[in-house]
Amino acid sequence: MDWGKANRMSKVVKPDGKCFYLAIDHGYFQGPTHGLERPGDVASTLAEFVDAIFVSRGVLRAQVDSKIKTQVILRVTGGESMVSEDLSNEELTTAVDDVVRLNAAAVGVSVYIGDKSEHQTIMNLTNMINDCERYGIPVMAVTAVGRELEKREARYLSMACRICAEMGASVVKTYYCEDFNKVISGCPVPVVIAGGPKTESELEVLEFVYKGIQEGAIGVNLGRNIWQNNRPRAMARALQALIHENLAPKLAHELYLGFEK
Ligand code: R5P
Repeated sequence: MDWGKANRMSKVVKPDGKCFYLAIDHGYFQGPTHGLERPGDVASTLAEFVDAIFVSRGVLRAQVDSKIKTQVILRVTGGESMVSEDLSNEELTTAVDDVVRLNAAAVGVSVYIGDKSEHQTIMNLTNMINDCERYGIPVMAVTAVGRELEKREARYLSMACRICAEMGASVVKTYYCEDFNKVISGCPVPVVIAGGPKTESELEVLEFVYKGIQEGAIGVNLGRNIWQNNRPRAMARALQALIHENLAPKLAHELYLGFEK
């Protein structure tokens, strides 16, 4: 790996081999989402706990302080909205020269395996990888399921992850599921866990993140389960401790409960 790419990778995967990304990109197809009405404020409130924010260039330029200390992973696909019939109809939205201009450490591209626009989204991934490889920028593939949440099972996700890795993604983001070890063992590059809709309890999130990491994920890219929590800083701190300080879920939960009000 070239020095530039290795250097960028080291910014988004910490020396312990783990990572904690805060997803604040939801507005790119959902508009103002509950808890994420001002993504820039969410970023500045939680930046100290996370290794990177996952964000679109519009929000980055408009709301995020350029002196922010955490890394930036740019979402570079879009082209549909939550009211579109076909959520998979995405194209590349951000050219690689803008990625460089924004000094992003990495980019994220959604891929919709089995959907109407499967081919188009795989080509979005390969085109972005071809451009990013020229500049040493890692690409995170996002195995998107759109409205079909039932796709979050090992057979589908291991196929989706493997295809993204074969295309050249440096990291693949997917969902935690039963038999997650099958997803991990079939994927030759590091896997990061996405969150999904807010769960009933904090402990539930801490438990699935913990299990995912035990089974081989290198970390998370979480959004709603942090900034829709009524104590987002406590939740971010608990996850940071679980990911980087190997705290077990119950102890991380205690940390959550006792964290600043
Ligand atoms: C998909 O890539 C989304 O835009 C989010 O980045 C991803 O789903 C993670 O956020 P959440 O934990 O809210 O699902």
